[in-house]
Amino acid sequence: MSERFTKGMARNIYYGGSLFFILLFLGLSFDTVIALSERDNRETLTPAVAEGKAVWEENNCVGCHSIMGEGAYFAPELANVFERRGMGDEAAFKGYLHAWMNAQPTGAPGRRQMPQFNLTDEEIDALAEFLIWTSRIDDNDWPPNVEG
Ligand code: HEC
Repeated sequence: MSERFTKGMARNIYYGGSLFFILLFLGLSFDTVIALSERDNRETLTPAVAEGKAVWEENNCVGCHSIMGEGAYFAPELANVFERRGMGDEAAFKGYLHAWMNAQPTGAPGRRQMPQFNLTDEEIDALAEFLIWTSRIDDNDWPPNVEG
């Protein structure tokens, strides 16, 4: 048997390998698109959630905070702040968020400070809706503990 590595063999590896990885890529992309629709509760998206996301973006909250692990690590993760500070109760969380946003900056010594954004009550309510909705996305229980 010849030990030579022929052009035909190289071509087969090239085309076979490319086809294999293209199919793998398509399969995984397809799987992701299907999984997202099952995990993100898109049927519970309301206009208030969308408005809250707009407030979140316009004020660059992600410049200091992370949300589902994405963003800056200067300030606490907020994907689970609803469980952490609202104990899963929507009215309690809204009350907390109004108090928190209006109390900034606290000036507490030794703590990092959050700016005052001067948001309206409606904007804070929308932010609360956005954070409640986000907390219900199935993100494999990220972050691993309620304080994180
Ligand atoms: C300049 C950085 C910065 C920006 C921008 C910022 N924050 Fe913060 N945020 C902080 C810091 C620092 C803390 C922690 C303060 C503390 O614990 O005393 C904090 C804490 C919080 C908390 C309490 C978290 C907890 O676990 O108790 C909430 C809620 C919050 N921020 C919401 C927001 C929202 C909503 C926005 C956008 C409108 C925002 N933050 C923008 C710095 C920031």
